[in-house]
Amino acid sequence: MVGYFDRQRVLVTGASSGIGRAFATRVAADGGDLVLVARREAVLRAQADELHARFGSSVEVIPADLSAPNAAAGVAELLAQRAITVDALVNNAGLGIHGDLADADLGAVSSQIAVNITALTELTAILLPGMITRGRGAVVNVASTAAFQPVPHMAVYAATKAYVLSFTRALWSETRGTGVQVLAVSPGATDTAFFEIAGEDASVGSRRAPEQVVEAALGALGSNRPDIVDGAANALLARIACRIPAKWAIALAERSVRPESPVSQAN
Ligand SMILES: NC(=O)c1ccc[n+]([C@@H]2O[C@H](COP(=O)([O-])OP(=O)(O)OC[C@H]3O[C@@H](n4cnc5c(N)ncnc54)[C@H](OP(=O)(O)O)[C@@H]3O)[C@@H](O)[C@H]2O)c1
Repeated sequence: MVGYFDRQRVLVTGASSGIGRAFATRVAADGGDLVLVARREAVLRAQADELHARFGSSVEVIPADLSAPNAAAGVAELLAQRAITVDALVNNAGLGIHGDLADADLGAVSSQIAVNITALTELTAILLPGMITRGRGAVVNVASTAAFQPVPHMAVYAATKAYVLSFTRALWSETRGTGVQVLAVSPGATDTAFFEIAGEDASVGSRRAPEQVVEAALGALGSNRPDIVDGAANALLARIACRIPAKWAIALAERSVRPESPVSQAN
């Protein structure tokens, strides 16, 4: 069976680790070519060599700090210099900081917004017109189950992911009939390096594998739906969060990231 990204050039942000790395491997295994974007150039170059050796993929590396001003424009400039056409974009790079806003470092607050929102939006805005002109392509934005309700103690992170979900759903509608697929994938707790920054307390319960998130996204692409939650239990919790009173949803979310806190605090 031909893979979804067969003979397509897919740009994956945050490709050096976790879900992005699993995405890149899957694209290569499916016969696609890649542009890998993240900060750690040596990691990306080793990964590019490995994917080329294993799958014969053509893999370009663009080291970039997506929290920097105009980072997306910088990536686009390098794509143009190398005459690379991007058929599909996976906006996966992201980070979440654990802690109350009043105690937060301002730089950490800003970098979450810059990577999770600004770079994702600008890369989409830069690459989408070409896809529409060509009448085909895909934009996959990695949101989170944190998008479905506010999350005390990770307030900025959850708000950035609510943005990603809302933005992607609207874009899904704007691009209908253009041949471009737009999808938000919302993982729940997934076993990656995410928790090295967010803190091990940032989830309770079991974690799914990055490959499962990729599988969920690929399963949903082409099915004409704007978003998918990875994992049946995560999907159920997301649906419940949208249907119960906001203060209950907030309390439940707080409990999952700050287990020691009494639920009543959020009432
Ligand atoms: N793991 C989870 O439980 C979970 C749950 C829901 C949603 N998500 C979302 O899934 C996505 C991937 O996260 P992950 O779990 O795979 O975490 P991860 O293993 O920590 O990977 C994060 C990736 O983002 C890149 N990145 C971070 N800051 C960057 C920056 N300033 N510029 C460029 N690249 C940057 C990292 O690369 P470098 O360090 O090399 O720059 C890395 O490749 C994120 O959007 C995250 O919010 C994760």
